[in-house]
Amino acid sequence: MIQTVRGTRDILPDDMPLWHRVEAVAREAFRRYGFREIRTPIFEKTELFARGVGEATDIVHKEMYTFTDRARVDSIQSGGESLTLRPENTASVVRAYIQHKMFADKSPGELTKLYYIGQMFRRERPQAGRYRQFYQIGVEVMGSSDDPAIEAEVIEMLDWFLKELKITNTTLLINSVGEPASRAVYLETLREAIRPKLDQLCTDCHHRFETNALRVFDCKNESCQTVIKDLPTITDSLDEASRQHFEQFKAHLDARGIAYTVNPRMVRGLDYYTRTAFEIVGHDGLGAQNTLVGGGRYDGLSETIGGPPTKGFGFAFGLDRMVMALPESEAEQLRAADAPDVFIVFLGKTARAHSFTVAQQLRAAGVAVAMEFEDRKMKKAMAAADKARASFALIIGDNEVASGTYGLKNLKTGEQESLTLDEIISKFGSVPGAVATG
Ligand code: HAM
Repeated sequence: MIQTVRGTRDILPDDMPLWHRVEAVAREAFRRYGFREIRTPIFEKTELFARGVGEATDIVHKEMYTFTDRARVDSIQSGGESLTLRPENTASVVRAYIQHKMFADKSPGELTKLYYIGQMFRRERPQAGRYRQFYQIGVEVMGSSDDPAIEAEVIEMLDWFLKELKITNTTLLINSVGEPASRAVYLETLREAIRPKLDQLCTDCHHRFETNALRVFDCKNESCQTVIKDLPTITDSLDEASRQHFEQFKAHLDARGIAYTVNPRMVRGLDYYTRTAFEIVGHDGLGAQNTLVGGGRYDGLSETIGGPPTKGFGFAFGLDRMVMALPESEAEQLRAADAPDVFIVFLGKTARAHSFTVAQQLRAAGVAVAMEFEDRKMKKAMAAADKARASFALIIGDNEVASGTYGLKNLKTGEQESLTLDEIISKFGSVPGAVATG
């Protein structure tokens, strides 16, 4: 038996209503806040992520699914190019922004606000809430402005989104990782602080120390954590402009009534961040992988991948994790609502033929109709309607065919009415879930 690859999984129909709900609320948030959708390819040139996300990050160093494309037989090139399944989407969206010159016809201060939904791939150690193929929903705001009000507005949108999904028990963690120039000075301080303790750090941290010492903060290793907690933080050596930016960002959050905790050790696992970085951590139903949302500012990313100077800010959340964070009562309701409006129960051959027409007309009017094709006794047919979790059973026998009125039984209350097809259709105009058509 061939099964799914380790770290990947099927999302089964029972869970899909939860996924659809999270996606629908996200799209509604994006509509209200003026974001438009973009879809970028699932694989890109390896160089995009190597340069964009950073060679020293765990993502690029250890976790990418990279392969050499087949060489063209008629090509003079000896080998194919190196391609990578996207481990994240910010680099791709910024690439698209540059490639399609989205900056070209913009007036000063005009922003490009994009969102995306899709699969990402990282070869991490799988566990609950951590997969090798996972889904992200994210946004990117790009343009010439780095106003901290942009950041606060994006977080306000997330706040609305989480409340709408009734995910209430969360913490917003914020930090500033400064400007590249001040970071270079800080990195020296950091390396000096780490050097005498190198023998207490894991081999990955040794590599981080050599390539980008900031990445030591990404280490989850407990023994490394004891060293990390005493290291000087980036916040202590912020440049004046970044410090002011951070103060304004906090003031904008305060003005919106959004609570936060400053975590000076949160530096995020990607190299492109400048100044504001944030995460939203969930506390219910998530286990160890409880970071729901990650994001921040990335003002130099466009230049890193060959574009014009551009300011950028965005986030992505793990859709898999957001679904896990939905309260159980919400999840139950969503699953229950994912059922047919009507299950047609027919009795006899003539009624069966007639049922097909009734089903066709109901469906054309927007009613979700289930029916099975076997001619059964009433009791068995009603059991099938219950199993399908339908709201109503529509009973059609020879008498109903002759009279044109049908028995409509509410399967929750047991009440039954005798109605014409038109009456049934107008009744479903007011049933939630059924689409009213003009
Ligand atoms: P990230 O922190 O690497 O940021 O990922 C964002 C979110 O994706 C995480 O908080 C988590 O919910 C989810 N996630 C990451 N890895 C996995 C995994 N293996 N399994 C399940 N869920 C996962 C980024 O990707 C940035 N591009 C975010 C961003 C956008 N920054 C600015 N703009």
